[in-house]
Amino acid sequence: MTLMYLHALAYTPEMRFDNPQPVVRVSNDAMDASDVRSPQHHASTTKMPRIPNALLRQARAIDAFLPALLAPCRDLHTAQNELRWLREHVNKVAKARRARGDLLAKGALLHHLVQERASGKPLQYILGTEHFGDLEIQCRPGVLIPRWVVHTLPRNITNEEARQDTAASITHLVQSLQKAHGLPPELRLLDLCTGTGCIPLLFQHELYSLRDDITLRALGVDVSSKALKLARHNNKRAQRGPTSANPGKLDFMKADVLINPFADQVAGPLPLKAALNYHDQPSFWDILISNPPYISPSNYWKTTIRSVRGYEPKLALVPPAEARQDDTEQGDLFYPRLLRIAQDVEAKVVLLEVADLAQALRIARLVQALDIFDGVEIWREEPGAIGSTSQLQGGVSVIGEGNARSVLCWRGAGTLWLGKSITSVSPDVKWSTPAVPGPPTESNVSTAPQFDPTFFGDSQLNSPARPMRVAFPSRHVNRKD
Ligand SMILES: C[S@@+](CC[C@H](N)C(=O)[O-])C[C@H]1O[C@@H](n2cnc3c(N)ncnc32)[C@H](O)[C@@H]1O
Repeated sequence: MTLMYLHALAYTPEMRFDNPQPVVRVSNDAMDASDVRSPQHHASTTKMPRIPNALLRQARAIDAFLPALLAPCRDLHTAQNELRWLREHVNKVAKARRARGDLLAKGALLHHLVQERASGKPLQYILGTEHFGDLEIQCRPGVLIPRWVVHTLPRNITNEEARQDTAASITHLVQSLQKAHGLPPELRLLDLCTGTGCIPLLFQHELYSLRDDITLRALGVDVSSKALKLARHNNKRAQRGPTSANPGKLDFMKADVLINPFADQVAGPLPLKAALNYHDQPSFWDILISNPPYISPSNYWKTTIRSVRGYEPKLALVPPAEARQDDTEQGDLFYPRLLRIAQDVEAKVVLLEVADLAQALRIARLVQALDIFDGVEIWREEPGAIGSTSQLQGGVSVIGEGNARSVLCWRGAGTLWLGKSITSVSPDVKWSTPAVPGPPTESNVSTAPQFDPTFFGDSQLNSPARPMRVAFPSRHVNRKD
């Protein structure tokens, strides 16, 4: 079976679904090479092939709006689907618009939306939603759209095989906790770089569908005000949904996870610890999840499609540049900080989304080098795929099917919760892959992604006891988010 994986970021908006377990069909022949890239399959930056005149004529004969949609969709079937969704959307909003005095006729509105789509605007921004697992998440320009990964399939295969990788990881993690013994009655989840809030919302939804003996306290953190506004909006919508009666608590908070909390910061978002303190949030969290910006500058140009670059916030995709840092290190920038935070908040289970296997191995080795976790493994897009066996890659177990998408690590009680053995971090890891930095030595210390020992203060790094709550600097006392 020809399977071509679309990188989560190289997806095209034809991956729009009208049911929670959607069906997608993207034909190999219809996709433009420049639209179908993964970090494993860096395509050259070829121009989009022209759409054949015969296809344009066929489309026009079906519906006058269809030819314009062929450009972003690349095949007739997808264009027809999109036109149907746009029509449904127009019908839905027309009434509300009229009530607001907007007298744009339905036809004119549809024409306008088709033009927007033809110019490359992601469908999710036009329609305003995307599915994430079983949830429908609101999307707005300025905030990253939750990603789908889609296997490009021959036409006779149903696209139920399409998977949403981040959602699949979250669902699998919650399922792994389904029978966990010893979970605290109030389980605390910290989601760093939360965007639309899709991760804590899905975690909450999945957890309450499996367990009624646990209360979830979750916190989503982002540096972007637009993202936080949308996450809070998504949370309000979720409260009207089926899990509305749950006893838990989900908050969203602004903080910059990259800032050293002890740096002399005078303006901008608070560092995480200070923000936790300021917002009266707990200092300690059981589970830390993050889907951070992870694309290196060169991969940004090589692996993302034009509509992503044109419409989605670069802040959400590419970590900022720092001095004396190469392209790969820039792509990996968040991970050492996130692991350091995980240590500081005493997270027992950590799930980090990554771009591909090479990045997953770099991060897994970082986890091993940190030597505070009892185990680490790499999850593929479908970590729970039935019949899949775990493979060992450079001393790290790789679980499931598809491309590598997350790194899971655990320690202490987390080992028990996940039913893992404490021996999973191999003490004699072989640092065999040249692209992956080995354990810090004098010769590689300046090039491998490194922990900044001052990030949370040396005194806290090796302390087995819970670190003291760090008092927020007095200049932030009156600060409002
Ligand atoms: C890849 S998106 C993930 C969004 C969401 N979690 C998801 O899975 O769809 C990364 C998010 O990180 C946020 N971000 C970027 N830099 C940050 C920082 N220094 N501190 C906190 N959040 C940051 C961006 O605003 C963006 O919402």
